[in-house]
Amino acid sequence: MQQPSEQIKSKLDIVDVLKDYIELRAAGRNFKANCPFHQEKTPSFIISRDRQIWHCFGCGQGGDIFKFVMEYENIEFYEALKILAEKAGVELKSLSYENHRQFGVLYEINEAAKNFYIDSLRRSDPAKNYLKSRKLTGEVAAEFELGFSPDMFDGTTAHLLKKGFSKDDIVRAGIAYKTDGGRVGDRFKGRIMFPIHNHFGKIVGFTGRVLPQNDTGEMGKYVNSPESPIFNKSKVLYGFWKSKRDIRENGVAILVEGQMDFLSLWSAGVKNAGAASGTALTPEHLKALRPIANKVILNFDNDEAGRTASERALDLLGEHDFSALVFDLKDYKDPAEAAEVDPQAVIPNKNNTRTAMQFYFDKYLKVIDNEVTNNKGNIRTILTKIQNLYSAIERAHWLKELSHIVGVREDDLREEMEKIKNNDVAIGNEIIKNEKTKTVLSRLDLISIRLLQLLYIDKNLQEKIERVLHFMPSDCRLAYSCIVKPGSSDAKVEHILDMISLRQEDKYEEEEFRQLLRELEVEYLRMQMGSIKRHIALIEAAGREEELAAKLKEFDELTKKLQDIRQS
Ligand code: CTP
Ligand code: MN
Repeated sequence: MQQPSEQIKSKLDIVDVLKDYIELRAAGRNFKANCPFHQEKTPSFIISRDRQIWHCFGCGQGGDIFKFVMEYENIEFYEALKILAEKAGVELKSLSYENHRQFGVLYEINEAAKNFYIDSLRRSDPAKNYLKSRKLTGEVAAEFELGFSPDMFDGTTAHLLKKGFSKDDIVRAGIAYKTDGGRVGDRFKGRIMFPIHNHFGKIVGFTGRVLPQNDTGEMGKYVNSPESPIFNKSKVLYGFWKSKRDIRENGVAILVEGQMDFLSLWSAGVKNAGAASGTALTPEHLKALRPIANKVILNFDNDEAGRTASERALDLLGEHDFSALVFDLKDYKDPAEAAEVDPQAVIPNKNNTRTAMQFYFDKYLKVIDNEVTNNKGNIRTILTKIQNLYSAIERAHWLKELSHIVGVREDDLREEMEKIKNNDVAIGNEIIKNEKTKTVLSRLDLISIRLLQLLYIDKNLQEKIERVLHFMPSDCRLAYSCIVKPGSSDAKVEHILDMISLRQEDKYEEEEFRQLLRELEVEYLRMQMGSIKRHIALIEAAGREEELAAKLKEFDELTKKLQDIRQS
């Protein structure tokens, strides 16, 4: 039987799906658009209808319709499956029972647990009083579906078992855990329960804050659901399901550390926030923001940990081309405290926010010593930050500023900056190498792929390309046979076929084709010569005279061939 995802794909055209999300323009056989996953002014996001894939040449992401919806909505596969099933008119019920057992039941358990927690909050005066003491109204509690987990060994678990859920599934959902003795007990006891909604508003997990009177000190102040097939911590921003509308309207998102911070801002009328809740900000979080916001204001805790987290977040935001500001909490310890004391104090404005670069300057150049050598580390750190700025104008501006403050000539600073490798990041005085791994294509690969692209748009080239096929790397030869034999495919070369289909033009120059044929052979010969050279070195070292003569002759012949081609 066909997989549900295959069934859905056969009914949907990628162009129809994507045009509901982004604006597409025809480009030859393909379509193009401004990439929703990174900031750009000229489109490098290409959609191939032939192969039903998309790819962005700017940020390197790509995939099929499922991948697109997962990335765009920041959701897991199962949810993308549901959305697209609906679009395709594939009935969800007909999606296998297995899928439901795997994922669907986890949503159901979280939902049932939430209702149970809400009920017990209603019955618990201490819990209600705690919320009151934190200035959270019943309205906000209801809106975010806050609850309370009774302080019992297995009260919640027993309730869910009674509802008909299996022990294993309740454990899998993270609501219960197995003790060493094999019993099953509640993970959350005596805690205010904050459901974590995914960005569609479905509950995927919980955070529980212990009531002060229940705090034995044995467990942490906060306990979280473990990750599960529906809960990925580094993707979900707490509160985003509610705040995304405001974020979109403003183009600005405020990021805070915790649930309490988020809810206090919400109560103070600041409704465009989100909380990474206990994990560092990740590129995955930013993906949720990218399509709807350009600017991010960080409002993390006013302590050393908060400042270090801010610095890392700023680096990440810079890398993803967000403009970033840091909120100044004055003497408040965190946004929750500020909002509880003075709701006005958490509304961002010019006076209580600093730009990222101001933040760095304040942090690293507060105590500027007259002795330059003492500041060298700090200056280099700042230079790293300047180096990583996206715009040259900004770089020039901040170099000048830095020169002014530390009394070192701009030229000297620039020289020092250029020594720092591109992409290195600095946290404190430690410079971290940022080694992004890329698959490297050889020149022979590139030439071959380009030739196959031309073949892809003009089948008349087949005969001429067939003649030089033996110069191509084996993967490209395989890709060639997939192109000339319609309907055939080979998993090994899918990525090459994708690359080929994503070309934007539908015309080419004769001259380019001739050049490519020539370059292909040249490159092939050069690679062969390189390998013979390495061979010769080995033979020489081993003193095998006879073989050496043969290899040298071979090398000589290749040199002549190469010269011939170059002169033709
Ligand atoms: N957190 C966590 N596990 C911990 C501590 C914190 O997951 N052991 C997460 C929680 O999501 C919490 C956030 O990190 O909301 C921020 O932690 P903290 O600053 O300690 O929480 P506050 O919001 O200040 O807590 P409260 O005001 O309730 O004391
Ligand atoms: Mn805090």
